[in-house]
Amino acid sequence: MRKKVTKAIFPVAGMGTRFLPATKSVPKEIMTLVDRPLVQYAIDEARAAGIKEFIFVTSRGKGALEDYFDHAPQLEQELRKKGKLELLKTLEDTNMDSGAIAYIRQHKALGLGHAVWCARRLIGNEPFAVMLPDDVIAADKPCLKQMIEAYEETGGSMVAAMEVEPARASSYGILDTSEEQGDLVKVKGMVEKPAADKAPSNLAVIGRYILAPTVLKNLNKLKSGSGGEIQLTDAIAQEIEQERDVYGFRFRGQRFDCGSKAGFLQATVAFGLAREELRDDLSAYLQSIAQVDRAAQ
Ligand code: G1P
Repeated sequence: MRKKVTKAIFPVAGMGTRFLPATKSVPKEIMTLVDRPLVQYAIDEARAAGIKEFIFVTSRGKGALEDYFDHAPQLEQELRKKGKLELLKTLEDTNMDSGAIAYIRQHKALGLGHAVWCARRLIGNEPFAVMLPDDVIAADKPCLKQMIEAYEETGGSMVAAMEVEPARASSYGILDTSEEQGDLVKVKGMVEKPAADKAPSNLAVIGRYILAPTVLKNLNKLKSGSGGEIQLTDAIAQEIEQERDVYGFRFRGQRFDCGSKAGFLQATVAFGLAREELRDDLSAYLQSIAQVDRAAQ
């Protein structure tokens, strides 16, 4: 029997400089799409996939993120008293079991691979997930759940994958692939942020991973890679050199790059339109500005 994936690492130590000045005092992961913080979308996806232990790799200034996961008994009581039961349910749904969340501090900003490595003692010798909350994925079946179902068949390590514009390859980890097996592609090499003309394909890694614990051993030995940082991509690429299986998984769903302002705004519109109580007003507004735009051309 394959070991179940019950632990997920959420690397949230980044400074979020692209969202300054907001991120001077608000951690990027607390910024909201409609009314839910980015991190809540990631937690909901992880819970739906059967994750039980949530490991946040944080840094200085992320206190609001830790506070966010505290229960709010006074607020709950107040809502109950006022009969605001729907809001109460919204709030209660975000409550986490005692002890389900651990926070580890990344003492130095040495990159994503290093952030994941910081959680090694909490992972031990089990497969684990990594979720980057910047990548928000809207899907009927949550992306990580799709991956875990596929992983139960394949084992090894698996990364979410999506085709990107070739010119954008230098913003991603890029896969060098061999066989295609439906949603799965066998990976024979991986490179972090290659120059567009050196990219082995335009199949990019998106921020969902299921990793064998041997990836942590590889991170032990890594020196800095692309951009002077310790790269998770390099540690996964070593799995292939060590003759362990690595797969790319073409997930079904729409991915928003909420690490960029344009992506964040697109996600805001998409998630707004998905909400029944907002849909009519918002789409009427969008149509009205589209008309103004056309008239101006
Ligand atoms: C990270 C990873 C990269 C991956 C990307 C997905 O890069 O290093 O391999 O393609 O996330 O969003 P970052 O966006 O943190 O620079």
